[in-house]
Amino acid sequence: MNQEIQLNKDTMIVSETDEKGIILYANDDFCTIAGYSKDELIGQAHNIVRHKDMPKAAFKDLWEHMKAKKVWNGIVKNITKEGNYYWVNATAYCVTKNNGENRLLSVRVKPTAEEINNAIALYKTLN
Ligand SMILES: Cc1cc2nc3c(=O)[nH]c(=O)nc-3n(C[C@H](O)[C@H](O)[C@H](O)COP(=O)(O)O)c2cc1C
Repeated sequence: MNQEIQLNKDTMIVSETDEKGIILYANDDFCTIAGYSKDELIGQAHNIVRHKDMPKAAFKDLWEHMKAKKVWNGIVKNITKEGNYYWVNATAYCVTKNNGENRLLSVRVKPTAEEINNAIALYKTLN
């Protein structure tokens, strides 16, 4: 509990959600790092990995970007099923399918120590 899980240099955590943030797809790295099976993740709201240290403002900004069809990038602290945590450098964007439905995609890689330290300092001021 409450231990940091470090991503590898080649880890890429990928997920896809509907317009409400319900998980439709999770790749193997997502399952491995967060400690869930695919079945446990698919159909859940993406806040299943929300860590209490993350300020609301960060996700407000993410959702505003998704609605405006703008690419969002941020440093995010997530919680695993066992109660450990992992930091990611996350990029999220909206894709409109041929049938007009929107899908929200996110790809996450290992952040640098500097990115994490800056985020810790910023989020302390926002919380
Ligand atoms: C594509 C996509 C990826 C997301 N990834 C995460 C994530 O890794 N961690 C997280 O806490 N929230 C993520 N969110 C935001 C959640 O949907 C949610 O807004 C956030 O966890 C805050 O929870 P709340 O809306 O219940 O306050 C993501 C949303 C989208 C659309």
